[in-house]
Amino acid sequence: MSNPQWQAVENFLNGATLPVDPALDAALAENAAAGLPPIDVSPAQGRLLNLIARLGKVSTILEIGTLGGYSTIWLARALSAGGHLLTLELEPKHAEVARENLNRAGVGDRVEIRVGMAADLLPQVGGPFDLIFIDADKPSNPIYWKEALRLSDIGTLIIVDNVVRDGAVADEASEDPGVLGVRALMEIVAKESRVEAAAIQTVGTKGYDGFLTALVVA
Ligand SMILES: C[S@@+](CC[C@H](N)C(=O)[O-])C[C@H]1O[C@@H](n2cnc3c(N)ncnc32)[C@H](O)[C@@H]1O
Repeated sequence: MSNPQWQAVENFLNGATLPVDPALDAALAENAAAGLPPIDVSPAQGRLLNLIARLGKVSTILEIGTLGGYSTIWLARALSAGGHLLTLELEPKHAEVARENLNRAGVGDRVEIRVGMAADLLPQVGGPFDLIFIDADKPSNPIYWKEALRLSDIGTLIIVDNVVRDGAVADEASEDPGVLGVRALMEIVAKESRVEAAAIQTVGTKGYDGFLTALVVA
């Protein structure tokens, strides 16, 4: 779903809030040149991730779903001194493009990329992390959520992208694997006493979608 007014408003708001950023612009250009799909977070979402991470003074971040490292750059820039970001990516080509983008952006030294299926990699990961960003294949969201909770401590923030999916998340009859993954995740969240969460709908250049933010409180 797309809407010219959403895009016009986003362009206007971005003009007022997001300075020109050569490293991030270069990352998007390199992604496109390498044929990666344009499914990175939007610039405003990236900035919001960055602000949230800075607000939380985070020093450890786990990202599931790297693509070309666009969100990774936003997050890595927010790390406090000596901080570390681990990002997991299935596709070697995506990881390769991300590595170049991260190095060019000057954050390569604080980011580790592991390549493979996140569900296979996660059991070997040790925590806790201050912030966990889940943005990979949506059918696996319940697995990623379970692992994220294992890798959390009180105060960890877990953010899950793409939880609205053009509104299809409210369709009880949907058979779309991505929608089913998000609906299963939301059922788990509803019963999870360790977190307090909010899910926000968004519109803009990336269409109609949304993200879940959950604070681990116990
Ligand atoms: C939405 S993109 C990530 C976008 C990125 N976070 C950003 O905003 O710049 C999802 C990524 O997850 C990767 N992915 C898909 N299935 C995966 C899996 N099973 N394990 C790890 N990564 C996976 C895809 O290859 C893709 O690069």
